[in-house]
Amino acid sequence: MFRKLPGDPARDLVSTTPDTAVVFRPSVVQVPAIVTVLIALWRFLGGTVRTIYRHPIACLLCLGLAWLIYSVGWQRALLLILAETGLLIAWARLERASFCALVGWRLLAWYRWMWIYRRHWQPTMVISGLGRTSGGREFLPRLRKVTCDGWADTVRIKMLSGQSHEDWEKRAPHLAHAFGAPSCRVTVGKPGWLALTFPRRDPLAVPLPAIPIKNVPHPEFAETGLREDGKPLMLRVHGTHLLIVGATGAGKGSWEWGIIRDRLPLVRAGLCRLWVCDPKRMELKFGHSPSEAPGKTLFYRYAATPEDCLTLLEEAEKEMQRTADAFGGHVRKHVASLEYPHNIIIVDEVAFLTAYVDDRKIRDAINSRLSTLSTQGRSVGFTLIAALQDPRKEVLKIRNLFPDKIALRLDESDQVDMVLGEGARDRGALADLIASDEYEGAGVGFVRLEKSPIPIRGRAGYVSDDDITDMVRDYGQHLAEVI
Ligand SMILES: Nc1ncnc2c1ncn2[C@@H]1O[C@H](COP(=O)(O)OP(=O)(O)OP(=O)(O)O)[C@@H](O)[C@H]1O
Ligand SMILES: [Mg+2]
Repeated sequence: MFRKLPGDPARDLVSTTPDTAVVFRPSVVQVPAIVTVLIALWRFLGGTVRTIYRHPIACLLCLGLAWLIYSVGWQRALLLILAETGLLIAWARLERASFCALVGWRLLAWYRWMWIYRRHWQPTMVISGLGRTSGGREFLPRLRKVTCDGWADTVRIKMLSGQSHEDWEKRAPHLAHAFGAPSCRVTVGKPGWLALTFPRRDPLAVPLPAIPIKNVPHPEFAETGLREDGKPLMLRVHGTHLLIVGATGAGKGSWEWGIIRDRLPLVRAGLCRLWVCDPKRMELKFGHSPSEAPGKTLFYRYAATPEDCLTLLEEAEKEMQRTADAFGGHVRKHVASLEYPHNIIIVDEVAFLTAYVDDRKIRDAINSRLSTLSTQGRSVGFTLIAALQDPRKEVLKIRNLFPDKIALRLDESDQVDMVLGEGARDRGALADLIASDEYEGAGVGFVRLEKSPIPIRGRAGYVSDDDITDMVRDYGQHLAEVI
């Protein structure tokens, strides 16, 4: 018990918080020994009940072990334990999935709770400023539960009253360093609760091969790569528009090619059409009459010069209006058919067409065509996919008309929120910190989908020149066949 001293600084006094100006003098209260013993017993009882409640399996194991040694003697108990350990190892080797689901992840979570999180919790909270000291007492957020899966630990915590998730988002790098994780993601749970995700390994650290082409792809989602939790990365490509932003060499091409690759069976079936504007002629030209397969193309329309790109966009707009006329008043959701297929308009280096073209008339006309397609296209099966390097509004006025966005490696931290929306960087989308080394970072990005504010980190499979050659050979149509 402490009493705060008023008035002048006092000498020879004891302070429990040496680094503060507030000084306390302990008031010694004499209590009978029995009271101290009772308090100690009460605390021991409380601690035991809490441990049993939090770690029932570990407690049962310890009790079981004690009972085994008591009933059969330690030599036999040791033999039994060795036999059981052997069985567990065999199970883990032969049936890894079921072993991990039933035993492995729980054991790991328990170990990480004890050794990583609980052990470092108090100093981390104090030093990062998430704990508070008031009147000589320390208040710490509560560590409630740790669960593990194949790639990350999820730590559930109860915040201190008066804290918000933003306080934690700002400290995410501090937490990641403290608990030895490459990053920390903060997700809001019920009021007052948060889930902190600490990845243990990064499945995106090495380049991924191109995703194999499926015979029957999903009509609305294209599988383009892998998410950081090891699950397939499914991008919505129907009923949306997609903006891909990344510095030069960030790997925009692999996302564009990933989508094209996934759609090819639908293209062959006549249910999807690819319209491509490729002002740089270095990216998508490979799919349109390349030297390895001259006269064959993957695209319904291909344009490279600004004039041709404008003609292509005008034609797409007319087609969109024709579909809208046919659908208006009958159906509200487009379903791809042979008569009204899904149309994907891919514009690589869109800034070249919307900002850098010398001819102002063409530039303005392209801007209007893109605005119309992006505002009216998605419900009638027209998807606009645009890639660019510089996300500023002056370069692409229609930036906000893309419901889904991908930020690959960016040059500056404030570009992240420009691309993914306010607060995305605080929620963990550290696109400006993606490695500039091609092997480590090309194709890695943060995807922000329309319906979720949480950015998803993923990497596109790398579609190599050989893959594209195979794609053109297997799925390309002869130029003469394309209308
Ligand atoms: N998904 C990926 N995985 C691994 N490496 C990749 C991936 N995507 C691209 N790369 C590598 O990075 C290089 C640059 O990629 P890409 O040309 O797609 O970048 P970009 O963003 O389109 O650049 P620019 O804006 O200059 O066109 C490629 O030549 C390739 O070696
Ligand atoms: Mg490119």
